[in-house]
Amino acid sequence: MEDSLNIEGGAQGTLARAQPLREQLRRLGEEFRLVEQAKLEWEVTVDSLPQLVVIVDEHFNILRVNRTLERWALGGVRDVLGRALHAVVHPGCNRRQCDLLQFIRHWQITPLESQRAYEAMDTRLRRYVRIEGFRIPESDLLRPDEPGAVISQVNPRQPLRVSERRPHVLLVLTDVTELKQAEDLRTRGAVELERRVEQRTEELLRSNQELMRVIVEREEASQALKESQSESKMLSAQLQTAQERERKRIAVELHDSVNQSLSAIKFSIGHATQIAQRGQTDAAMQMLDALVPMVQATMEEVRRISMDLRPRSLDDFGIITTLGWFSREFSRLYQEVEIVTLLRAEEEDIPVPLRTVIYRITQEAVNNAIKHGKAARVEISLAALPEVIELAISDNGRGFDPDEAVSRKRLEGGLGLGSMRERAEFSGAAFEVRSLPGRGCVVQAQWARHGLAVR
Ligand SMILES: Nc1ncnc2c1ncn2[C@@H]1O[C@H](COP(=O)(O)OP(=O)(O)OP(=O)(O)O)[C@@H](O)[C@H]1O
Ligand SMILES: [Mg+2]
Repeated sequence: MEDSLNIEGGAQGTLARAQPLREQLRRLGEEFRLVEQAKLEWEVTVDSLPQLVVIVDEHFNILRVNRTLERWALGGVRDVLGRALHAVVHPGCNRRQCDLLQFIRHWQITPLESQRAYEAMDTRLRRYVRIEGFRIPESDLLRPDEPGAVISQVNPRQPLRVSERRPHVLLVLTDVTELKQAEDLRTRGAVELERRVEQRTEELLRSNQELMRVIVEREEASQALKESQSESKMLSAQLQTAQERERKRIAVELHDSVNQSLSAIKFSIGHATQIAQRGQTDAAMQMLDALVPMVQATMEEVRRISMDLRPRSLDDFGIITTLGWFSREFSRLYQEVEIVTLLRAEEEDIPVPLRTVIYRITQEAVNNAIKHGKAARVEISLAALPEVIELAISDNGRGFDPDEAVSRKRLEGGLGLGSMRERAEFSGAAFEVRSLPGRGCVVQAQWARHGLAVR
């Protein structure tokens, strides 16, 4: 009974002793399960990161890697353990200038740096990658002599298993392609924007300059227009005065010569009629006979005056025919003067507005040559040359000093030379009177053909 009690007491003692052990085991199991769970959660977290996270040893052989490796199609996470990082990330790469290799080498040469990074286009990965490396401090690792050490004692002859190697560097590879592209796009956009702004500014400057040029041109043109308007007003006023004087002269001539002659003729006819009524027919006949030369002279006078006026033939037959007629009439009036016409132009070569001008200048110049120059020969020349239409009236008379004559005539209120110049210049001609005492005279007008309206 005692034995059995003893036995019972012994078993109970053993049971009692085993109790805390069991409790410890249960707690250990519970802790292990928690650790496993924490490990799993940690792995799931790291696996779900978009970055490639790698832990390497001091030779940059992979100790741990997350599942981004598979998403980047670089192999299975278990297959790459223990393999060189460079060989896994850049399979088959033997480029000396490989950025990743340089990064690894640099780290191996200067191992003390705790953190490093670089960013580059990785042609192998076909991504723009930022690589950051963080040195894992020794203190973060459990020492081999500490309880629960993960790094076991090393047998130098036996290569370490992956789980036995010391984590040296944590690498995080981030795909920054999209970021880079966005950045590039932004930079390019900014550059493009700047270029466009520059271009637009340049265009604006150019059109501004062009605008300024146009404004200046318009101002100059309007100034020139004002000047030419006032010049043409002055010219037309002068021309009107000249025409007015011409009319007066013709009126005086009509009054003094034709009117006087007609009065004398009328008187003579009246007288002859009275004599005839008294039966003195012979005396009356004599008187009438004596009137014939006077009537003839008056007719000549009327013809001369009509030539001074614009001849009808200018409108009916044109300037070429009229100049021929004019020269014949003058030859008839002044039989001692040789009048020559040289016409090297067709009617259609001479614009309509120039025809009267040409006639008036010819008329005045020929009159002057005969009246003042007492010329024996007067030449009228009209030529349509390729560049210009040229009118020249030259005589072999006494000649004169044109400057002196013009200023004298201005004082006397003369018409001829002044009105010739006005008419010529008003119609756009270059006008010139060349003469020297004793050397005859040339009156010349030239119209540039370019820009002349024919009708
Ligand atoms: N061909 C010429 N030969 C010589 N002297 C001339 C000739 N043409 C003009 N003169 C001189 O120039 C002056 C001015 O000529 P202009 O034709 O202007 O006036 P005018 O003939 O005297 O008068 P108007 O023409 O008004 O009847 C003349 O008085 C004359 O002295
Ligand atoms: Mg004259």
